[in-house]
Amino acid sequence: MHIRGGVRLSGCVPISGAKNSALVILAGALLAPGVCRLHNIPSLVDVACMLEILATLGVAIRRDGSSLEIDARDITLADAPYELVSQLRASFFAIGPLLARLGETRVPLPGGCAIGARPVDLHVRGLQAMGAEVQIEHGLVHARVKKGKRLQGARIYLDYPSVGATETLMMAATLAEGETLIENAAREPEVVDLANFCRALGAQIEGAGTNTIVISGVPQLHGAEYSIIPDRIEAGTFLVAGAITRSELELSCVVPEHLTAVIAKLQAMGATIRSTAPNRLLISPGERSLATDLETLPYPGFPTDMQAQFMALLALAEGNSVVTETVFENRLRHFAELNRMGADIRVKNNIAIVRGVPFLSGAPVVATDLRASASLVLAGLAAQGETTMTGLHHLDRGYDRLEQKLRNLGADLERRNSYDPDLLAESSETLPPVLS
Ligand code: EPZ
Repeated sequence: MHIRGGVRLSGCVPISGAKNSALVILAGALLAPGVCRLHNIPSLVDVACMLEILATLGVAIRRDGSSLEIDARDITLADAPYELVSQLRASFFAIGPLLARLGETRVPLPGGCAIGARPVDLHVRGLQAMGAEVQIEHGLVHARVKKGKRLQGARIYLDYPSVGATETLMMAATLAEGETLIENAAREPEVVDLANFCRALGAQIEGAGTNTIVISGVPQLHGAEYSIIPDRIEAGTFLVAGAITRSELELSCVVPEHLTAVIAKLQAMGATIRSTAPNRLLISPGERSLATDLETLPYPGFPTDMQAQFMALLALAEGNSVVTETVFENRLRHFAELNRMGADIRVKNNIAIVRGVPFLSGAPVVATDLRASASLVLAGLAAQGETTMTGLHHLDRGYDRLEQKLRNLGADLERRNSYDPDLLAESSETLPPVLS
């Protein structure tokens, strides 16, 4: 991608549906032997990959723009295919629904990724507490309940408020016998979105959004129609785009309450942000942003998925900032590419010291993961000169038509088919056979 920086942005950008809701709710559709109609589904490579996994399991899919019809009445395969799971960690979400519905499943152990080892021990231990026998061998997680038995409700305490573990266990518990308590549960909006979707299927769930979730199992669930929440991380990314280019920008289709920590930080850095309508936000940045410290925490703390984007903004702020990444063990790698653009950032373990500089200069950069790629785009928008970014497949995993949305706001950028080995490798993959 080629970005020519220094251009002011203006206008209103519509925010798409939340990636981290769509992925887990698509897995949740496996819980019900029925038809689900899902709306506000973002157009992302990760969503396409999850749809391919569902199709492999025997689910029929019809797509109409951002709406999907998922018919999970007949699941013909209980095992998720390795070659697809290895492409998309979130496909591990299938284990809870498949185990709860079929009584046995094999799902490949998701590998680590650029930002960390990403273990699933909390998911496994929770399923075992619910009576599942789980063997991990040859890279496969083989989970089953005793013949003729169902998962049993249990009291589960999570050592860490893991989003994925909370979601896996909540889904599994919807069809268990008896009541399940998940303590120290994750409180992210996407967890609440999943709970609301499962309740639409007929599940009995209370307490989602708090640190204790109570699920009373039911014998069977049914299809439903559901619209997912907007993507708070995409919204936060565009708020930072306004701040870093010192542009007044409006966002539509957002839920401001999901962005409290992000808005508070931007206001501390000197931006004015106000609600112009129930689901609209307007950012009016001051002159140069002021430095501020940042620590990522589980929701409602500052989201780790916004840390890279803020590092680009802090790189240009007046003063020095300390960024502490407490959620993932290797999620500061974007500092090196930002430094190639003239930033002054030093990293030791999970702490980055960011000394604000007056300007960044465009340079060739390589994206290392999804949010790092967003951070480099933001830096490119503010830098003097041209930035050329490769590793675009990271961006396509999690942002719905980001370049087009930025161009609609006046940004000067395009994706030329410059030689990008990763991109070429990706493009040789055929996209999933989604029935149109
Ligand atoms: C979800 O990942 C999101 N992904 C991530 O978004 C997000 O960064 C993360 O939650 C935190 O908010 C999806 O929802 C698809 P965790 P998840 O389990 O569920 C440790 C993005 O950019 N842990 O809350 O994997 C883990 O290693 C992506 O959109 C265990 O130790 O996150 C990490 O240090 C990146 N054992 C911490 O918990 C486990 O069994 C948080 O992980 C599970 C997690």
